[in-house]
Amino acid sequence: MSGIFISLEGPDGSGKSTTAAKLVPQLQQLSQKEVILTREPGGSSISEQIRQVILNVDNTSMDSRTEALLYAAQRRQHLVDVILPALAANKIVISDRYVDSSVAYQGAGREIGMKQIWDLNLFATDNLLPQLTLYFDVPPKVGLQRINQARAQAVDRLEKETLVFHQRVADAYQQLVQQFPQRIVSIDAQQDPTQVKDECLRIIKQRFKLGE
Ligand SMILES: Nc1ncnc2c1ncn2[C@@H]1O[C@H](COP(=O)(O)OP(=O)(O)OP(=O)(O)O)[C@@H](O)[C@H]1O
Ligand SMILES: [Mg+2]
Repeated sequence: MSGIFISLEGPDGSGKSTTAAKLVPQLQQLSQKEVILTREPGGSSISEQIRQVILNVDNTSMDSRTEALLYAAQRRQHLVDVILPALAANKIVISDRYVDSSVAYQGAGREIGMKQIWDLNLFATDNLLPQLTLYFDVPPKVGLQRINQARAQAVDRLEKETLVFHQRVADAYQQLVQQFPQRIVSIDAQQDPTQVKDECLRIIKQRFKLGE
C-alpha cells in the first residue's frame, strides 16, 4: 500500500460532505498524488445497492444486527472495489465515513456494543484502518438542526432516530477520539465552513508533508 487513506467522521450534519467537496480540489492542487473522494455507505455498484436497503425508510423492521452486518458488508465491498485499488495506485483516498461510524452508530447508537462492532469491522476490513481520521466535532443537536434547515430531500431512516440515539453516537465518537489519539484528530466543526476546510487541509498537509 503506497497511497494515503483518510476518513472523515462525525455526527449527521457535522459538515463532512460539505467540507470534502471543497477540500478535495485544494488538496489536489498541492499533491503529486491523485486525490479521490468516496463515501459510505456506498461508493461502488454493489455497496450502493446495499446502501439502498440500509437507508430505505420503509425498512422499519430491520433488526439492529442485520443493519450492522449490512454496513460491514458494504464496507468490505467498497474497500475491495474502490479503496484498495486506489491505494495500490498511490492515490490519496478520502472516505466520507468508515469503521468509526459503525462503532458509533451500531455499537453505541443501537446499543449492540462498541467492542462487538469493532471486531465485526476488523473482520470486514481485514484490519485496514485509515492513517488519519478527521473527526467533525459538533453537538448532535447542532448537526440535526442544520439538516432540518437545509433539507429539501427526504430524511433517511437513521436520521429519524431520536436525539438520545444521536447523543449516544456522539459520546461514542468522543471515546474513539480518546482511544486513538494518533489516528483521530478532532476538529471544531462549529466554525464557519471555510475555517473547517482550512483546518482539515492544514492537518493533512502537516501529517503527510504535502506541498513542501
Ligand atoms: N461549518 C458549518 N456551519 C454551518 N453549517 C454548515 C457547516 N458545514 C455544513 N453546514 C451545513 O449543514 C448541513 C449538513 O452538512 P453536511 O451534509 O456536509 O453534513 P454531513 O456531516 O455530511 O452529514 P451526514 O452525516 O448526514 O451526511 C448542510 O446544509 C451544510 O450546508
Ligand atoms: Mg454527508
